[in-house]
Amino acid sequence: IKAEPLKVMISGAPASGKGTQCELITKKYDLVHIAAGDLLRAEVAAGTENGRRAKEYMEKGQLVPDEIVVTMVKERLLQPDSQEKGWLLDGYPRSLSQATALKGFGFQPHIFILLEVPEEILVARVVGRRLDPVTGKIYHLKYSPPETEEIAARLTQRFDDTEEKVKLRLITHNKNVEAVLSMYGDITVRVDGSLSKEDVFTQIDAALRNVLGQRQASVGSV
Ligand code: AP5
Repeated sequence: IKAEPLKVMISGAPASGKGTQCELITKKYDLVHIAAGDLLRAEVAAGTENGRRAKEYMEKGQLVPDEIVVTMVKERLLQPDSQEKGWLLDGYPRSLSQATALKGFGFQPHIFILLEVPEEILVARVVGRRLDPVTGKIYHLKYSPPETEEIAARLTQRFDDTEEKVKLRLITHNKNVEAVLSMYGDITVRVDGSLSKEDVFTQIDAALRNVLGQRQASVGSV
């Protein structure tokens, strides 16, 4: 009997390193990375009605309403690649209502990773973040600089990556995090996200190997 594919959720404050760790996790575990923020930014870039509405909330650092986000994420989770390879859900659910809806649709993760980073570090991470529009890779001017001049010249910045906006995003996060955790308490693994990205990944990798080991043992005993 083959164990069903791995299902992972990763959560944490703005700029806690979710996207950075997801790059490392997908490289090693080949899961389908589904980031609520990326799906929303794609809607904004496409100029759809949902994108236009979503941007109003994103600019204020508030949660985009459920009627836009819930269906968007659900549809991505139901795609054949997510079902076959397993998924890595980044930045979702972010409220009790999203967590409840997801459970209602039958999506239950094996592990819920919470990245813990002190607030004073988060602002520095946000203002220095840059994105490569060609590869989608995340950089930081100081902590993770681009490899070449060519990449450096094409880097872009997110519209909500200012000190003022990250403080609003942080308020939203702090308001909701406990309610979400209450849904996944028994499978939550807290990770120290203030270390280097390699050291953060070492902790996550150990937690994922542990989950895989437990699941293989339980399949083997059937
Ligand atoms: P979203 O795009 O998810 O933004 P966020 O949660 O604020 O998280 P970020 O993407 O800013 O940070 P990250 O944790 O991925 O950090 P990263 O790895 O890039 O959401 C944006 C908006 O969309 C929300 O405000 C909301 O409006 C809306 N939205 C999203 N999901 C929603 C939902 N479920 N419901 C409703 N609305 C939703 O790292 C940050 C920087 O730090 C980078 O420069 C990186 O290089 C650097 N860095 C990373 N790790 C380290 C390290 N260990 N050491 C040093 N530097 C590091």
